[in-house]
Amino acid sequence: LKLLTIIGARPQIIKSGAISRAIQNKYSHLVNEVIVHTGQHYDPQMSAVFFEELGLPEPDYNLQVGSGKHGVQTAKMIVGIEEVIDVEKPDYLLIYGDTNSTLAGALAAAKLHVPIVHIEAGLRSFNKQMPEEINRILSDHVSTYLFPPTETGYENLLNEGFHPDTLPPYTADNPGIFRVGDVMYDNSLYFSNVAAERSTILEREQLEPGAYVLATLHRNTNTDDAARLNAIFSALQSLATTYAAKLVMPLHPRTRKQMAALLEPALYQAISSTPAIILLPPVSFLDMIRLEQHASLIITDSGGVQKEAYFFKKNCLILRAETEWVEIVAAGAARLCDANTERILEGFLAYSQTREGTFPLLYGHGQAAQSIIDILTRAV
Ligand code: UD1
Ligand code: UDP
Repeated sequence: LKLLTIIGARPQIIKSGAISRAIQNKYSHLVNEVIVHTGQHYDPQMSAVFFEELGLPEPDYNLQVGSGKHGVQTAKMIVGIEEVIDVEKPDYLLIYGDTNSTLAGALAAAKLHVPIVHIEAGLRSFNKQMPEEINRILSDHVSTYLFPPTETGYENLLNEGFHPDTLPPYTADNPGIFRVGDVMYDNSLYFSNVAAERSTILEREQLEPGAYVLATLHRNTNTDDAARLNAIFSALQSLATTYAAKLVMPLHPRTRKQMAALLEPALYQAISSTPAIILLPPVSFLDMIRLEQHASLIITDSGGVQKEAYFFKKNCLILRAETEWVEIVAAGAARLCDANTERILEGFLAYSQTREGTFPLLYGHGQAAQSIIDILTRAV
């Protein structure tokens, strides 16, 4: 069975580790995984670091598309992926999540009649201003195997007309939906002890466990809108000055660029010179997990980081108006603060008294990747 895996953005590289591990564990004699990196993320700290640190198989192809406008970037990926499909003739094409790399893989494979396996299917924000919402809806609707990570994802698919109990053989017109859990939960279980043993980030940055807030920011709606970016950073600045919080922020390259371009000069200056705000380049996955494990609170607009906060039983302030991971908000473990300075400060005060909410198991049992490979190998 030949699987052509498409990755490109940081979280996809990390997610793909769970599937590659499941193949190595049980099916290396049966499954040949060919990996295509689109090159959407290319800085060493956004890409190479994960292959090295997590021992991931190196991509067989790197399309080196780099950054660009959506049309240009996605089009270059489609051209490259189509060529690889022609050469490799895979049985399945595997895509993750909702980035431009996901959509490019879906469009190239659908037209060449290669069955698509979509991991992290069914998630919806119900906000079509988000490029990710477009990418995920279109990808789901040409897929043959859909793996929603949550019950909500499953329900969303049914609400869009997907049939819950189709029978094999599955095709794009008769797709199968399987609830196996979330491969990122697999990863956080697998790597949490490794991070505790190998990451030295707390020591390097002189951070006391439980005595800092971890924050990340990279959504285009936040980074490219001056009003929103200033509102978020003025909340973070107040946390550090008025509330004496220590803040650690591994910055996505997009955010670093936009801070210089869009923050009010006085705020930019204050953020850059406040010792309690530690701005870092993007960190490795093990460093990130260790930072998450010992944070007092997590503030983020990242999908992956929201969930990892939950996996490590941390409260989270979400810097968005809505989230695809609605269950963590319903459990009281996270709050939607949008880019609203007051709501961020209120959330900080509420969560700094005690840990709030409950943390039931919502993302499977850590065997999602293994179940996915079981299902795909049974089908051939
Ligand atoms: C992309 C995904 C987003 C995902 C995120 C994960 C899309 C539409 N968006 O957003 O869903 O949450 O990845 O991190 O696919 N840049 C660098 N170096 C890099 C990569 C990017 O400097 O290695 C800078 C460039 O200025 C680039 C900008 O970041 O223009 C945005 O990169 P891009 O891949 O287009 O989108 P992300 O914001 O990373
Ligand atoms: N991550 C990381 N280093 C960082 C920031 C994030 O390893 O400096 C990891 C994080 O732990 C999570 C994934 O990257 O597993 C999330 O990716 P990102 O926030 O870029 O995108 P999203 O999940 O929002 O698509």
